Amino acid sequence: MSRIPDSFIQDLLSRIDIVEVVGSRVELKRAGREYRGLSPFTNEKSPSFFVNPAKQMFFDFSSGKNGTAITFLMENDRLSFVEAIEELAKRAGVDVPREGGNEVARLVLDGPLDALAVAEKFYRSQLKSHQPAIDYLKKRGLDGETAKLFNVGFAPESWDALTRLFPEADGQRQHAMDAGLLIERDGGGAYDRFRNRVMFPIRDTRGRTIGFGGRTLANDPAKYLNSPETPLFHKGRNLFGLFEAKQSTKSELASLLVVEGYMDVVMLAQHGIRNAVATLGTATTREHLTLLFKSTRRAVFCFDGDRAGRSAAWRALEQALPEVFDDRECRFMFLPDGHDPDSLVQEVGADAFRSLIEQAQPLSHFLLGELQKQVNIATLDGRARLPGLARPHVEKLRDGPLRALIVDELARLTRLGRADLEAALASRPKPEAAAAGAQPAEGGRRVESPGAKPVRVALQLLLEEPALAAKAEHLGQIEMLAQPGLDILLDSIEFFREHPEAHAAQWLELHRGTARGAALMRISAMPLTLAGASLDEEFLDCMNHLRKRAIRERQQALLDLARERPLEAFEQSELLALMQRP
Ligand code: UTP
Ligand code: MN
Repeated sequence: MSRIPDSFIQDLLSRIDIVEVVGSRVELKRAGREYRGLSPFTNEKSPSFFVNPAKQMFFDFSSGKNGTAITFLMENDRLSFVEAIEELAKRAGVDVPREGGNEVARLVLDGPLDALAVAEKFYRSQLKSHQPAIDYLKKRGLDGETAKLFNVGFAPESWDALTRLFPEADGQRQHAMDAGLLIERDGGGAYDRFRNRVMFPIRDTRGRTIGFGGRTLANDPAKYLNSPETPLFHKGRNLFGLFEAKQSTKSELASLLVVEGYMDVVMLAQHGIRNAVATLGTATTREHLTLLFKSTRRAVFCFDGDRAGRSAAWRALEQALPEVFDDRECRFMFLPDGHDPDSLVQEVGADAFRSLIEQAQPLSHFLLGELQKQVNIATLDGRARLPGLARPHVEKLRDGPLRALIVDELARLTRLGRADLEAALASRPKPEAAAAGAQPAEGGRRVESPGAKPVRVALQLLLEEPALAAKAEHLGQIEMLAQPGLDILLDSIEFFREHPEAHAAQWLELHRGTARGAALMRISAMPLTLAGASLDEEFLDCMNHLRKRAIRERQQALLDLARERPLEAFEQSELLALMQRP
């Protein structure tokens, strides 16, 4: 059956009001910023059912059911998802469009997907007529056939070459803007987001182009520019090259190779290594792992051998731990200094590169190896610290042979008996604040909370008040933190920046049926208690806390490194700069 486009659902949610939808079925009374009534799902006597107009969500504390207007109709009227949409569309007086189906190609653009298809065609045609772009790709060793395989194109150096293709009439310009292709000017009008860049289309698993990555031909400080997060395009949920990799074989892929760059994927494919995919300028997410394991049993992560590469690999490992079970397998390979897959495969050829893939370390090997680096395994005290270091990771593994074998190996390394080891792996860690020496409360107003709390609180505040997204600063630093949930927070900030009018329900509906959606739902239902401060202050406080933690972590990493080897000049100056930060 054809699918209802996300963009339509987004638009629909912005047209209807959940208070009216629910209010026509449940008697609601105003209670502060919310509406309150008796739960339609239980026989309660005192009202604990709330509708929040700002979030466009309902929260039922008696049944535990929460959600958007769509969820409400599904639960209350016992409608399917599609029926709920149809019901809302009827209310809003609009027709439900369907994607796919067998209708003939239309001339009128229906939505952002069509705008993306137009842009892709345009960029491809531009590549043919721009010799400097062709020369650039030739110089990099890319042949025409491979460029065609990935539909590589070129965005000319112009502010409106693409914009002109989307007249303002019929909402066509809006579709291109919704697709992230154009940027709105402050005084009205729009301009091309991508200029003077080689364009790599990013497809979803069904082959539809949902975004682009563009490499500058000039010396633009942003070497690569990616499409912004849109209702169609989530960096954390898509992988460049996955569709092409799946197209390369009729059977299931024996493995997928995860690399960092667009050019890496493309150049490997040119050398016959057709199973490479790349994250889109973000760290590996849990959703990437889920996506990978939908297409293969084995994921091989390929990173640079330098510090940044190893810490990126470590972050990938942390996301992978809960996802490796049954016959799923993760491996890690590190490239020689100064090489990325693109340069290496061109230098050594496909066979040598394949044999490096063959030699990739199993996950357990990488995990235990990195942990052992943190202690002196030759001493009793060093061995005693190992279970504590391993615990947060072993905890994430499902019960099964992999976990059992890792525990066996830990027993061998520590020389602990099985019972002592399991006990050490099970005991709870002491709170970080106590370990790190409690941080002084900022301005004496709020006690800094250990663990992932600032991430959760910031997200809660953001769902309450999406306008906060515009106020977040230093995201680049915060992004470096390895912190559960941080990717959701950063993606949410990006989404609300790109869609200042959106409310929480719209962001939630984009994640229906995913783990991330469940997490967002849970967080949006949590009661928010402000410690006297305003939403703004509280939010900036959380972000500042995360920034400080990121700086501290990076400082510590550099100090640790300094114990292993003398720091390079640039590392020294980074460390100095970090230590001088407030
Ligand atoms: P690299 O900086 O390692 O570049 O970025 P690269 O892939 O080797 O690029 P070439 O070979 O100079 O063309 C790796 C990946 O990180 C993301 C992109 O996805 C890129 O492919 N990235 C990098 C960005 O998103 N933005 C940037 O400014 C740089
Ligand atoms: Mn490169």
